[in-house]
Amino acid sequence: MSIIILGIESSCDDTSAAVIRDGILASNVIASQKVHEEYGGVVPELASRAHQQNIVPVVDAALKRAGIDKHDLSAIAFTRGPGLLGSLLVGTSFAKGLSLGLDIPIVDVNHLHGHVLSHFIRKEEGDAVPEFPYLCLLISGGNSQIILVKSPSDMEVLGQTIDDAAGEAFDKCAKVMGLPYPGGPHIDRLAAEGDASRFKFAKPRIPGLNYSFSGLKTSFLYTLRDNLKTDPEFIEKNKADLAASLQATIIDILLAKLKKAVEITGVHTVAIGGGVSANSGVRNAVADYCKRNGLTAFIPERAFTTDNAAMVAIAGYFKYLDKQFCEYDAAPYARVQV
Ligand code: KG4
Repeated sequence: MSIIILGIESSCDDTSAAVIRDGILASNVIASQKVHEEYGGVVPELASRAHQQNIVPVVDAALKRAGIDKHDLSAIAFTRGPGLLGSLLVGTSFAKGLSLGLDIPIVDVNHLHGHVLSHFIRKEEGDAVPEFPYLCLLISGGNSQIILVKSPSDMEVLGQTIDDAAGEAFDKCAKVMGLPYPGGPHIDRLAAEGDASRFKFAKPRIPGLNYSFSGLKTSFLYTLRDNLKTDPEFIEKNKADLAASLQATIIDILLAKLKKAVEITGVHTVAIGGGVSANSGVRNAVADYCKRNGLTAFIPERAFTTDNAAMVAIAGYFKYLDKQFCEYDAAPYARVQV
């Protein structure tokens, strides 16, 4: 009999549902919330309400696209955290209700594990997946971590940011440039037309495998402030070069520690995950570095870099195989480590 997992993701501002059948993706539906655009960031209360509106049609669409009747499901996997509590409550409660109605188990998923395991989302049997152990550079709006992935349930954080995450560096610098939220994709787009060697920004000197991005952010702000004194149109005139130089600095910082982690561990497979892994410069730099050093790179499809239920379903599938089910008194958590 097939193992069919319904995944539900509602940790931030995307409502998503996906179906994985025997480890192969059957559907992945994402409803993004436009309501936050005018506020320059996600408004938690509005996000919860939008999840409440979206969850039933999104799950329904995921089942229909997969050609699955809900009575054929083996289990329901849901993101328990980290994320916005009000948003997580919608997915958690929905998963519990549906599982009670169908009399099937629920599996709770750590959203970060979902990003790390997103490389196991296969569209067909022959698709390549990483071999254990592999290194995962998890870069998102809230995290910048280098993780040694020994198995789907055994992950060791080798290094992480001591202040801002890479995504925050993109978003905060983009905000002061007057770009819409989230700024990362806008910097990516502008950087393609800019000169990355034009501006020099501070790089951290943090020992070990930890990251820091707050110094870069400050030096970016100072560059803008100093130049705006003499030229009020400095940002407008130089936005492509500013974006390209910022992106190149972030990539340098990310790659320096990743290379160090490869040297220390001797691991030959490198993966990236999380929203910032959608960045063209990051993707090229990691692919390039791996190619030059005989390493195997896993660069996720862009649809699986940001929040999606396919990664929740695959992480849930692994836990289901291990019979790691969740109790009905499980409450969501806002913060959690890998
Ligand atoms: O993993 P994710 O969807 O969720 C959170 O951690 O909240 O990551 C979102 C982050 C944001 O900071 C966004 O600006 C960044 O991913 N991001 C990008 C790109 N696409 C998304 N950053 C740089 N370049 C991109 N193309």
